[in-house]
Amino acid sequence: MVTRVRRVGIITSGGDSPGFNPFVRAVVRMALYYGWEPWGIQRGYEGLIAGDIELMNSRSVSGAIGMGGTILGSSRSEVFMTAHGIRDALRNLNEADIDAVAIIGGDGTMRGARALYEAGVPVIGAPGTIENDVCGTDVSIGVDTALNTALDAMDRIRDTASSQEQAFIIEMMGEKSGYLALMAGIAGGAEMVCIPEEPFTLDDVTREVADAYIRGKKHCIITVAEGARPSAREIADHLRAHEGETGFDVRLSLLGHIQRGGSPSAFDRFLATRLGAAAVERLLAGESGVIVGTIENEVVTTPLSEVTECTRHIDEEYLSLAKVLAR
Ligand code: F6P
Repeated sequence: MVTRVRRVGIITSGGDSPGFNPFVRAVVRMALYYGWEPWGIQRGYEGLIAGDIELMNSRSVSGAIGMGGTILGSSRSEVFMTAHGIRDALRNLNEADIDAVAIIGGDGTMRGARALYEAGVPVIGAPGTIENDVCGTDVSIGVDTALNTALDAMDRIRDTASSQEQAFIIEMMGEKSGYLALMAGIAGGAEMVCIPEEPFTLDDVTREVADAYIRGKKHCIITVAEGARPSAREIADHLRAHEGETGFDVRLSLLGHIQRGGSPSAFDRFLATRLGAAAVERLLAGESGVIVGTIENEVVTTPLSEVTECTRHIDEEYLSLAKVLAR
């Protein structure tokens, strides 16, 4: 339990998402409000291992509310989860006299946060990932912006797909989670959604495309999560080889990292701000070893031990909605 925090470290880690910066800003300014010193740890856990830690002030986060990426830098650190990674991190936190750490990132980052907490450091995590696969919150910071970016791309693609009467395979980010592909599929009116959580075959896809043609559709849009198997590329190759059966010309579009960048939406700015402020207040109240998240719009905390053991599932209701409304 934290008795008295004087110096709080801030880490942004793993794949960044739009909203990391408003989170950092909220932690910095809330910490200053309580008379603490905010210390920015650079490049995620890599910077913690290297001792790359800088004192921040209110001006360090000027303009950060609307910036994409992360002003602190980020990394995916494999060394951190080794005994010597943790040992160097503890030594550097000790040397900088940092009493507690606020960490934003996805599930891998939360496993690192748990390791740090179990090594004796008061830690508060916050869910920041475009995949929405962190438990302990209804939605992670960055999901809303990424979804809107994916949707905007999808709308543009539909314009050209309709004009040219094409089938488009659109790959969206999500190595383990089909959340973005599913939600963009519903909000963007896709004819089919292919995600890692729901088994499908190349023949299923061919049937859907042929069916869309027979029903008189001018296009056939399929959103495919990065982690879906068969992959977006395999689907496109297969459909190309069977164009005669489906009636549509086939195109493939990989949206890639554009979904991770960009200025955070209003929703993500609010969420990041609420959770950044809550992280400081929970530390002040003596809480640690938890993540802050929102459930039914209330800020709640969940132990890191629970969050890191839990798998977030896709909502079955959304899956069937996507299928029914695609007709
Ligand atoms: O942040 C999650 C994620 O976007 C995954 O969907 C994707 O597979 C991965 O990051 C790619 O990240 P990077 O290019 O940083 O390794």
